[in-house]
Order: sequence, then C-alpha cells, then structure tokens
Amino acid sequence: MRVGVDYYPEHWPEDRWPQDARLMREAGLDLVRLAEFAWCRMEPEEGRYEFEWLERAISTLSAEGIQVVLGTPTATPPAWLHERYPELYPADPRGYRLGFGTRLQRCLGNETMRAYSRRITEAMVNRFADNPAVIGWQTDNEFEANLCYCDDCARRFREWLRRRYGTLDALNEAWGTVFWSQEYGSWSQVPLPWVARCGQAHSPSLWLEYRRFASETACEFHRDQAAIIRRLAPHHFITHNLMGLHDSMDYFALGADLDFVSWDNYPGGDWHEDRDAGMVHDVMRGVKQRNFWVMEEQSGITGWERMGARPSPGQIRMWAWQAIAHGADAVVFFRWRSCLYGTEQYWHGILNHDGLPRRRYHEIAGLAKEVAELSEALDDSIVKSRVAILNSYEQNWALQIQPQVDGLGWWKQVRLFHNALGRRALGGDIVSIAADLATFQAVFVPSWYILTEADAEKLAAYVRDGGTLVLNPRAGVKTTHNTCRPAPLPTLLAEVAGVEVDDYSPIWSEGPLVRMTDGREFGANVWADYLALKGAEAIALWEHAHFPGEPAATRNAYGKGVCYYLGTIGEPAFYEAVVALIVDDLHLPTLEGIPLGVDVRVRRKGTERYVFFVNQTDEEQWVPLPPISETLLGPSGVKEVALAPFGVAIYRLQPPT
Ligand code: GAL
Ligand code: ZN
Repeated sequence: MRVGVDYYPEHWPEDRWPQDARLMREAGLDLVRLAEFAWCRMEPEEGRYEFEWLERAISTLSAEGIQVVLGTPTATPPAWLHERYPELYPADPRGYRLGFGTRLQRCLGNETMRAYSRRITEAMVNRFADNPAVIGWQTDNEFEANLCYCDDCARRFREWLRRRYGTLDALNEAWGTVFWSQEYGSWSQVPLPWVARCGQAHSPSLWLEYRRFASETACEFHRDQAAIIRRLAPHHFITHNLMGLHDSMDYFALGADLDFVSWDNYPGGDWHEDRDAGMVHDVMRGVKQRNFWVMEEQSGITGWERMGARPSPGQIRMWAWQAIAHGADAVVFFRWRSCLYGTEQYWHGILNHDGLPRRRYHEIAGLAKEVAELSEALDDSIVKSRVAILNSYEQNWALQIQPQVDGLGWWKQVRLFHNALGRRALGGDIVSIAADLATFQAVFVPSWYILTEADAEKLAAYVRDGGTLVLNPRAGVKTTHNTCRPAPLPTLLAEVAGVEVDDYSPIWSEGPLVRMTDGREFGANVWADYLALKGAEAIALWEHAHFPGEPAATRNAYGKGVCYYLGTIGEPAFYEAVVALIVDDLHLPTLEGIPLGVDVRVRRKGTERYVFFVNQTDEEQWVPLPPISETLLGPSGVKEVALAPFGVAIYRLQPPT
C-alpha cells in the first residue's frame, strides 16, 4: 500500500529538487511519477536525446528512498515534430486541423506519429530499464478514442471495414444501406460519419463502426509502446491513467494490454450523489477485475481559467481512504506543487505556489502515516462483491448514437443499480460480460441494447445455472450491426425473462407510477414497457399510464435461476425495493440503513475481512456495524458508530460462524 505524488522537476530550478525530495520523504511519500509531458526536454531536436537531467532528478529522489514511475511523453509532441509533419495534427469533422500550443494535438492513427512514438519510447526505456529506482511505466496520458477525420483516418477506416466485412456486399447487407439509396459501389465511397456534411443523421451502423474503429486506433497506439517496454524492460509494470467514467474508449480493450489499471480521480467540491467517487472506483477496478492505482488524486483546488471548490479539512484524506477501500493499492497525488506558469496554474498541488508545507501537506503526511501503519494488514487484500453490474462501452456508444429518450444514459443506469446496492452495503463489482458471471449471485444489466447471440446465450446460461439476472428496458433491441432485431422484445432474452414487450412508450411527463404487489408505489421515468406474461409473474403493475393494471416489472423462474425484467427506469427507491426482493430471495448478508453518502466496502485477504466506512458528506453520520473483532482506524463501537464529517473507519470483521 503506497502513497506518492506526481512531480515535474522540469518545472523547477534544479537546486530546489533536494528540498522537494526531502519534504516528500518527511511526508511519507515514497513513489513519484515523472516525465509524461517532458518530450521537448528529453528530445529537444530530432534524434538528440537529453536524459541526464532526468537521471539527476531520479537520483535526487531515490537518495530519499523514493521510487519512480516514468511516463512516455507522447501526449505532448514537441514543436519541431509538428513543424516537420503538419499531417500529425488531428482533423475535426469539417476537416479543420488542430494546431500547436496545448496537448493531445496528434492523430494516434498516423504512421509517422506512431514511428516517433516508438522512437522516444525506445530511447527512454533503453536509458532507464536498468535504473534501480524505476519500477514501471505509464504509457502516454489519459488516452481518448481517436475521433479524427483526417484523410489518413478515412483511408484506414475503410481498410478496417474491409477486413471486418470482406466484401462490400456483406457490408451493404449488414447495414441496410438500401435505406435512402446509400448502397456503396466501392470502398472509397464509405464516408466517416459527419465528414460528409450530409446535414441529417448518418446511419447508426456506420456510426457504431466508426466508434469501434476510433477506440481501437488508440488501443493500437498504446500497444506499440507496451510491446517496446515489455521487450526492453520485462521486469517493469505497464499501466495507464484512465479517466473514470470517460467513455470514448473501450477501457476493457485497453486494459487487456496493461498489468493493472490506474486512474485520475478529481471528485471535486461537495459530495453529491452524482459525484460519488465510489462507483467510479468500482468501474475502474472492473476493467481488469483487479486492484488498481490512483495515479492522480486531487490534492487541492482544481482549475485552469477558473477554480473549483477548496477541499475541506479531512476531505483529501477521505478520498484517499475511499480509493483504498475500493481496491487501490497506491494513491499518487496530483501534483507536488502548483505550477507558476502554463495552462494549469490554478490546478493546485499539495504545496501552493509558495512551495511551503501547509495544511494539505500535513493532512497528506498524516494519511501516509496511517496507510503505512495499516499496510501489513491490507497489503494483498482484494475487493470482490457477491453481486455485479455489467458495463459495456459498446452499449454506451449505441445509446449515445440513438438516445431514444432523455434519461436512458448508460452511467445513469449503472448509478441507479449501484446506489441501491450501496444502501444495503452490498458493494457491487462493475464488470464486462466477458467476466466469469458464475462468481456472482446476482447480475444487474443496464439496457443491453446491442445483443449478440453469444451474449444472449451467456446470460441465459448464467440464469439456467442458478444466477439471478436483472434486465432493464431496451434489452435485446439491436444486432451487432446496430440494426433492429425482427422479433418480440427482449428478443433473444424473451424466453429467459418469460415476457414479451407488447407495446412501449417513452415517458415524457411526470406522473406514471408502478405499484408493487405489496402495494407500494414508485415513480416511473423515461420508459414504459407493457409486458405480456409468457411464464413470468408480475412484481409491479402500471398505474395511471396508458395500460393501467398491465405488468411493468416481472420475475421469471428459469432453469435453476431467476430473471427479473424491469420495464421502466424507476426512481431510486424502486431499485432499492427490487434489491430488497433479491436480498430476501438469496438470503444475502447485508447492513440496513446505510445513509446516503456513506460508502461501505470490504477488502479481504484469505479468511480476513476488513470493512471500510467512508463518510463523503460534511455532516456526522451514524452507521450500523456488523460484528467486528478489531478497530483498525476510527471510532470503536459495538452496534453502531458516529462517523465524523469526512470521517473514515476500518474494522476487522469477525469470521463468519
Ligand atoms: C489530468 C491530467 C493531468 C492534469 C490534470 C489537471 O486529467 O492527466 O495531466 O492535466 O488533469 O488538469
Ligand atoms: Zn487522423
């Protein structure tokens, strides 16, 4: 368990470095990320490498016992490279090219860009592979899908389609290009969506393929660098700093080429439901279903041109413990000291511009001490829930391409499930459909809109073998080509769910309600499916909607398991009611009465279980305690305890009897 900091020695006079390193060590920071934007200092002219300054910075740090993660600098190609190759600038949908003066001004698909990326990576890794202070690598910085519209990308997109479809006939058939007379007679006629300036919407099939392609392009760029690091420094790890709920890229595909995931956590001002970093940590842990790092953890006021809220006393410590509760093995703060110049002058570091240790420095030093004290207990422990929520970038893209109605957003649905599980301290892993679903007792599925035969069979088999599956509206609508399936909804899952959607309607107005069989009523939003029972029983009926009395949500026994189908996006309490049914069905051990804003997580190692309570709010909160055998951090108690504002408590649980 480690605490570290992102450091930019190139921003500071060299005679300040020893003092920085000493202050870091005194604060208990023993890990530093370096160099991810320093290309112009490492290669000031084409082919002339200057690594001596970086070596001196590393030895200054390692003299204080600090280890180093190096970043490849390809998010900031230097001016000389662009001057020589203007075609490296990405183009927007109107063909307009970005220019110099910020970062990310490069097309990740461009072959010249890739060649220079390989060269600087190789030069760095050659130079630092045997440096004893260096332990691993971060590739680039915060990858995004390469949504570029340059001619090169258009050409590569067509080649990519040709590899996927083989023949144009197959593509025309799969996309249904006969619609609006769009049949392609040659590959060169296939446009990038938008670039044709057609004025009206492009085909959803074209769009979805372009999103897949743009994501894969960024993965390929990463893979180039990863291959070099693996070859030249096989003893080092490879990670990348992801962006939480950012969704332009398929993080599962990127994660496949990482040893572990890192991410950048800026939870911002005050706590509120939508900002809850806990769910985002779970999304990030789910990318590889393993522990992760926070590579950039907020350490002060954020801001470029304008500033965000000041972290309250205790809030930074709370964020760090929350990350650890969710499976972080390292928390690296961004950044050491607020920069005197450049775009990010107001993105504050642990130190202010004056470089003096103040409140945030002391808070982080205190945190590092606590973490060091608990490391022996917590090292090698993992987070694994009994229940999971499925995540899919592809579903998310398809719902962005055709939102259908406001409120069907992917993360919004994940959030509703996750919050309902959180209120019962059930946690919830957030995983790919490629995960081993059998390790979960219940699986919650936001609109699984694009449904392949393979996914349908996997979900059906999960239920058949005893799993509990929960489906949301719009499951099964589409094929992998983003065309509609010609079958009663939820199409390939209708048999598992034991229902057919007889009719449906977006919900535009306030008012529709669903009534559970126990009489409780809940608000229904966004969508109304009217369900015909084909073996399922109704758990909720429509009230005051188009078909009062018709089933709105159902439960179906299928094989050894159960499938719930929710025909609407309900208010949060509706999901809590559904979770309560499942908790009873499966006799899941839970805590009741977890206040909103309190995050409960368990890390486990062998038979040991450590439960974390994290109060994200600025008010005191009372939480119920399970039977505990030891207090590791925070107030001790028997049945319940008071968590201070932004307070954290950790207990060792009594072994189950
Ligand atoms: C992150 C990025 C950092 C820094 C920070 C503050 O997203 O990785 O390099 O820019 O935001 O803006
Ligand atoms: Zn391009």
